[in-house]
Amino acid sequence: MSNDIFEKCTKFTAVRDLQTAGIYPYFKRVETVQGPVVKIDGKEKIVLCSNNYLGLADHPKVIEGAVLAAKQYGTSCTGSRFVNGTNDLHEKVERKFAKFVGKESAILFTTGHHSNLGALSSLVGKGEFVITDKLDHASIIDGCRLSFGGEMLRFRHNDMGDLERQLIKVQSKGTSALIVIDGIFSMEGDIAKFPEISALAKKYGARVYVDEAHSLGVLGKNGKGTGEYFNMEPEVDVLMATASKSLASIGGFIASRSEVITYIKHTARSLIFTASLPPACVGAIDVALDILQDEPERRAKLWENTNKMKEGFQSLGFDTRTSESPIIPITVGEDMKAFQMCAMLFEEGIFASPIVSPAVPEGQAIIRTSYMATHTDEHLEMILDKFEKVAKQLGIIPGGSIRKKMAKSSYNIKNRRWNFSFSDNNKFAAATKRWLKNLWFTK
Ligand SMILES: Cc1ncc(COP(=O)(O)O)c(C=O)c1O
Repeated sequence: MSNDIFEKCTKFTAVRDLQTAGIYPYFKRVETVQGPVVKIDGKEKIVLCSNNYLGLADHPKVIEGAVLAAKQYGTSCTGSRFVNGTNDLHEKVERKFAKFVGKESAILFTTGHHSNLGALSSLVGKGEFVITDKLDHASIIDGCRLSFGGEMLRFRHNDMGDLERQLIKVQSKGTSALIVIDGIFSMEGDIAKFPEISALAKKYGARVYVDEAHSLGVLGKNGKGTGEYFNMEPEVDVLMATASKSLASIGGFIASRSEVITYIKHTARSLIFTASLPPACVGAIDVALDILQDEPERRAKLWENTNKMKEGFQSLGFDTRTSESPIIPITVGEDMKAFQMCAMLFEEGIFASPIVSPAVPEGQAIIRTSYMATHTDEHLEMILDKFEKVAKQLGIIPGGSIRKKMAKSSYNIKNRRWNFSFSDNNKFAAATKRWLKNLWFTK
């Protein structure tokens, strides 16, 4: 054991290896607004890895909302919500959000991550249990770990038998539990089995907390999320949502009964011990919430794009796993293949992101694609063409595709800019795995 705390940094080679190989996919420098197309290194790329589902991040009215709020309230609240950092705009937006999702009250945190940290650590106390789906988002895991004396149990993804087994364990201890699920799961793009989860929660006297980060604005007739999608809105005991996706800003909401919100407001450390959301971000949320409700055609277009892409990928022979939403994972296989595929797609003008183990099971790395209402048919056609071209090069889909248009094209491997071969696989894979395992610590 070294006595220099920095030794681990010296030994951290994963990033260097990936950069040397030319397949490092992270921290790309975007030079434009976050629309369906961005510029990186002066070149246009179609974006396939954002959560700008309704395409509001560059909407003139949302930008104007941010500017007006900054002019009226300044650039920062310079303190916590608890002390000097609450203004009337925060409270207006909280009331608007609570009304929209049909809850008595809501509280706005500085990020979605902070919401999960604060609400979960506050609600799950000593001797109590939180039961999470194994594919729940990292911020949920972090929130559970921050609970003082609460215990975490986990059930296999969307597996109701396993959930019931965990509930029976809690019952045998004679204490209470909170079940926490994502509405739409952020990597696989499938939807929680909410009706069954709710029925089990009732049977065992547990409460249900739904993270609607990816479902707000997306699921349900009015975009209210999972509860509305299943016509079971009152059954969602605590609704969490981020403002960083469909609402094109940043921030996180927790909505529930008034007494629950009052409790969280006065006990959540990630609310009390951090500065409040800046006015510009709140102003953007205020306008985005109106547009979300006033322009349902955006949600309709998002689903049209989603359906087109799912069918398109499947007709090309890609495995889209269990996706039921605008998040469509494309199975690639080995981790390093996913890194390489993203590098190749990038060269072809597509900005996509690899998701490798342990975020997904070993050998089942994916490219997580996600869609916006503002992707045009031309963008979508180009995405399918480029995926087909690159995937054939990598042997992910067989040749002889039915997309005749592409039959002639071939990827010029000689001109590639990366310096990678599959013989490097083990070396890169081992270092990368160590890094990501520590980052995700989900297994
Ligand atoms: C399911 C889920 N919950 C919570 C968060 C955290 O939200 P934010 O990025 O607003 O902090 C994310 C972010 O990606 C998410 O996907």
